[in-house]
Amino acid sequence: MRVKTCYNCQECGHRSTRWLGRCPGCGAWNSFVEEVSRPAGATLPVSAGGELPRPVTEVPALAEDCFPTELAELDRVLGGGIVPGSLVLIGGDPGIGKSTLMLQAAHLLSRRLKVLYVSGEESARQVRLRADRLGALSPGLLLLCETDLDAVEGQLRKLAPPVAVIDSIQTMFKAGIPSAPGSVGQVRECAAQLMRLAKTTGISIFLVGHVTKEGTLAGPRVLEHMVDTVLYMEGDRHQFFRVLRSIKNRFGSTHEIGIFEMSGRGLVEVANPSALFLIQRSRPDVPGSAVVAGLEGTRPLLVEIQALVSPTSYGVPRRMTAGVDYNRVALIAAVLEKRVGLNLGSQDLYVNAVGGVRLDEPAVDLAIACALVSSFRDQPVDPDLACAGEIGLTGELRPVTGAEKRIKEAFKMGFGRFLTAAQSALPAGEHPGIITADTLAGALELALKV
Ligand code: TYD
Ligand code: MG
Repeated sequence: MRVKTCYNCQECGHRSTRWLGRCPGCGAWNSFVEEVSRPAGATLPVSAGGELPRPVTEVPALAEDCFPTELAELDRVLGGGIVPGSLVLIGGDPGIGKSTLMLQAAHLLSRRLKVLYVSGEESARQVRLRADRLGALSPGLLLLCETDLDAVEGQLRKLAPPVAVIDSIQTMFKAGIPSAPGSVGQVRECAAQLMRLAKTTGISIFLVGHVTKEGTLAGPRVLEHMVDTVLYMEGDRHQFFRVLRSIKNRFGSTHEIGIFEMSGRGLVEVANPSALFLIQRSRPDVPGSAVVAGLEGTRPLLVEIQALVSPTSYGVPRRMTAGVDYNRVALIAAVLEKRVGLNLGSQDLYVNAVGGVRLDEPAVDLAIACALVSSFRDQPVDPDLACAGEIGLTGELRPVTGAEKRIKEAFKMGFGRFLTAAQSALPAGEHPGIITADTLAGALELALKV
């Protein structure tokens, strides 16, 4: 049967029977997306029908139903485990390890329950080869190489596995929509159909999704709104470890991260990430290096921040960052100029979080400042020092959350001194290793070896 489609403006909802470059309703450019035509009033996720309102106390609780994958790092990010009937999106660059992660998780789950792995990208033999290499062979893991969504839905309904993986959503297509698989319209329709399936049958579905160059999930942001949980896999492809981060989670916190190491036999969980990130720190007492005690969710993470300050060769100075926020570095450089009196206006600045991890919290500020000043003055930061602190526009040092956790982790990893803001909630009692400052200038004096 041919599905009737129409084009809707994503900005204002204007409807048209053909694609238009510019919306006559709101004037937005390139905002028309092909969608399945529905009678007015019908919303995407349909309910089972005829459901009546009931007291919230009488709705069965979900928490106890959630089941772990046994991949502890994945469970942590999911908020404890897989919730029945949930739709989880795993996003990331091509080649980062999404299929590997999903195959490993599917294998672990398949020892206890039926799992259907739908591959639209690789042939069954390719998946088998990969499973062989990962040591992920078990008869409970069912493979299906299919890209027709209706066929996939048919199999899912027939087999009713508690968990299914769709690898990837961009390869799925719904017959009847003329646009190509991977286009916004197709991705949206396919995801919506899988969403309805998950909600009505209780099958938990993982969707693998590639990220476009612009950094958004190919196919629309709409996908992020539809699904229950959005996990991103990130990391430098040339590095060995991968970070799984939750962007949205209807069943848990979005602050947790999971850390894996890519090995010859697939992804290995990393229980002690600080050790992993600091392992490459072979020369701690060269100028331009400082260690931050970051906090990702409930987990402290020690990461080396490196900076290079060098005179600009052509006119406009360059500022480049990897793993830390560009605007934050620009702000810190401005504060260093104005409040500490460094002349960075004619210098190129390069700042890098070692290992390819991304640190977004403001507590990294102090380490960035230390590394910059250290490189500028060609004077190493005390190699025995870890730090955490936010820098304010007036040059003050602001407290960080979870100071105690950060300090514990730093001391555990062998650092003897910890520098933070005086107002941070510090552990009670005397700790000679904890040093504090109120201002950035004061902190820099303490951090740089004289
Ligand atoms: P993959 O899971 O195919 O990425 P995605 O599905 O996100 O596109 O991972 C591919 C990369 O991982 C590939 O470049 C090789 C590497 N890899 C290993 O290093 N070890 C392994 O055991 C496997 C299976 C992959
Ligand atoms: Mg893949």
